[in-house]
Amino acid sequence: MTAALTQPHRTAQPGDGLSRTKPGRDLFQIAELVEKCFSSGMDAGGRSAIQEMKFIARLWPLTWPLIILDRPGLGTGFVWRIGGHVIGNASLYPGGAHPWLGPGWLVANVAVHPDYRRQGIALSLMRAGIEFVREQRGRWIALQVDAANTGAQELYKKLGFTGYETLGIWERTGLHQLVSSADANTWHIRSRRSQDIATETDLIYNRARLGAMNWGHPIERSQLQGGLLSDIGKLLGGQYQDHRVLPDPDRPNRLLGVLWIDMSGWHAARLSLFLDPDLRDPDGRQSLLRWILDNHAFEGWSLRLETVAEDNHVEEMAQAAGFRKTHNLTQMRCLL
Ligand SMILES: CC(C)(COP(=O)(O)OP(=O)(O)OC[C@H]1O[C@@H](n2cnc3c(N)ncnc32)[C@H](O)[C@@H]1OP(=O)(O)O)[C@@H](O)C(=O)NCCC(=O)NCCS
Repeated sequence: MTAALTQPHRTAQPGDGLSRTKPGRDLFQIAELVEKCFSSGMDAGGRSAIQEMKFIARLWPLTWPLIILDRPGLGTGFVWRIGGHVIGNASLYPGGAHPWLGPGWLVANVAVHPDYRRQGIALSLMRAGIEFVREQRGRWIALQVDAANTGAQELYKKLGFTGYETLGIWERTGLHQLVSSADANTWHIRSRRSQDIATETDLIYNRARLGAMNWGHPIERSQLQGGLLSDIGKLLGGQYQDHRVLPDPDRPNRLLGVLWIDMSGWHAARLSLFLDPDLRDPDGRQSLLRWILDNHAFEGWSLRLETVAEDNHVEEMAQAAGFRKTHNLTQMRCLL
């Protein structure tokens, strides 16, 4: 199948050109196309997403309930086909409710086979996606693009997308020692309390993460609500999230930082770091990360970290603790 994809001249087939994605027909070829177009920068998560797509495609139609219930984006989007083969793709995922923009959609896996580039195929796929989201009454479309991928950013700018923030993604796997206790935290870190919700919301939405996006999704107001019922709900859903906060020593009603710890598997967690840009003290900027790296409970865990890019003090600590930067991802958005 892959060899045939490299042939630019093919006999026309019914269904060629632009069409809505049909999972049973297209999913396996989309997985192959995405694998080909993104292979150089793909991380372990990306590779397992491709394998999952192929698995779902092979067992189709038995797997359609999985798409309906759990992976709606795998079945939604647009493809461009030539000679019966998918040579272009743009997938669409419901993006949830952004705190001030309302409901919207996420675009992912925008890819055009190398033999067919610069012919306007990605533009057509994206325009169809934007029209689809308008019809669904979505108010925005968002995506993440590698900060170094200026070609794709040009494409998105032509369509009305603007970049608003760049986030650094770091990962650390395997066994690592704790951060040296000689550099013990001098800043006070504690668990979030219910009375912190308003100050945490203020920090995240108004200072630390101006786009209100985290790991490619909007930070919905419901995620910031604490309380027993919400915690029980998350636990029943197999999620566990801990929020650690860095209070402002000079202003009790203000937080300077928050670290979200989402358990994502056995001895694996996803960390989201939110820091007040006005916090200048290097130890202060490093203190939440230091807290988790110093914590015996997380010794040897695999950790993925998302934080605003080019934060020298945080990046210095991440590097010293054995993290590797996988991407700088520019967040882009188009308002409809
Ligand atoms: C990015 C990608 C999808 C573009 O597909 P495409 O079909 O070639 O794009 P289009 O022909 O529709 O390009 C439309 C416009 O976008 C811009 N553009 C697209 N690719 C570009 C590039 N490599 N360099 C500079 N500008 C580019 C140009 O303004 C172009 O208009 P022009 O050709 O008249 O100058 C394709 O190069 C690809 O699959 N890349 C690898 C995967 C990837 O990076 N995907 C994006 C992930 S967020």
